[in-house]
Amino acid sequence: MTANDCFMNPNDLIQQTAEIIVSSKHVVALTGAGVSVESGIPPFRGKGGLWEKFDPLEVAHIQSFMRNPERVWRLLISEMKGILADARPNPAHAGLARLESLGKLKTVITQNVDGLHQLAGSRDVIEFHGNFAMLRCMDCGLRVKTVDVAMTDMPPRCHCGGIYRPECVFFGEPIPMQALDRAQMAASSCDLMLVAGTSAVVQPAAFMPVMARQSGAVVIEINPEPTPLTGSTSKYLVRGKAGITVRRITDEVEQMLAARR
Ligand code: OAD
Repeated sequence: MTANDCFMNPNDLIQQTAEIIVSSKHVVALTGAGVSVESGIPPFRGKGGLWEKFDPLEVAHIQSFMRNPERVWRLLISEMKGILADARPNPAHAGLARLESLGKLKTVITQNVDGLHQLAGSRDVIEFHGNFAMLRCMDCGLRVKTVDVAMTDMPPRCHCGGIYRPECVFFGEPIPMQALDRAQMAASSCDLMLVAGTSAVVQPAAFMPVMARQSGAVVIEINPEPTPLTGSTSKYLVRGKAGITVRRITDEVEQMLAARR
């Protein structure tokens, strides 16, 4: 961030971000829980975050799940199932999908497991931490839709008797190989990375903007709060909620593209 960027007002930063998007050839977005907050899904960290209520090592670590799947299902997963089932895309998801359909955004790398980018119409989405839409039997490997599994028995079981687990990544597990490969490829080949709604503290996801920057890309953040990337990896932070900010940036991009025709 340059000294001048620090003093620019948010409207100018929105305009500047739209100009950079229009002049870029390969734009990638990295999103986190913050983009789904306005869809009613709580973030993990900060005020009202899930980790205020639960200890992540107790409810989100693979060893806790293997030791006591019933407890993890009851405490966290069944609650998440209810929240995610009701959630609908907000203007942040819709704006990113619109940027893709305008030909200005290639790929979304998301740490979210809620499927809202796809529901909003984004087609190229890398689910870095897996997704919650599918469950997998830990014994026979059968995959089923989460919505099709009754939560009457805890933990829910497959007809073979095995326990179902969600297809999301628990702490202590590796990132799915294909997602990691594709994300690294996207980060190292983009010329602009938009980083929206992530605290950028969980690795290796938080390394993707660093990789983009090291490969010569411009990194721009959208977040109400600064992150460890702010002032170092990112050129600047557009301070604000993702919904209104992404919508305004996308409106500007659309107008600039229309004016060129
Ligand atoms: P966090 O909960 O760590 O961070 C959410 C970020 O969103 C913070 O930087 C907030 O300032 C910001 N935020 C809040 N409301 C916002 C809004 N309306 N618009 C834009 N930004 C907003 O979520 P992640 O960074 O996604 O991993 O967390 C990364 C990983 O940690 C998650 O994928 C999950 C978690 O533990 C696993 O479970 C493996």
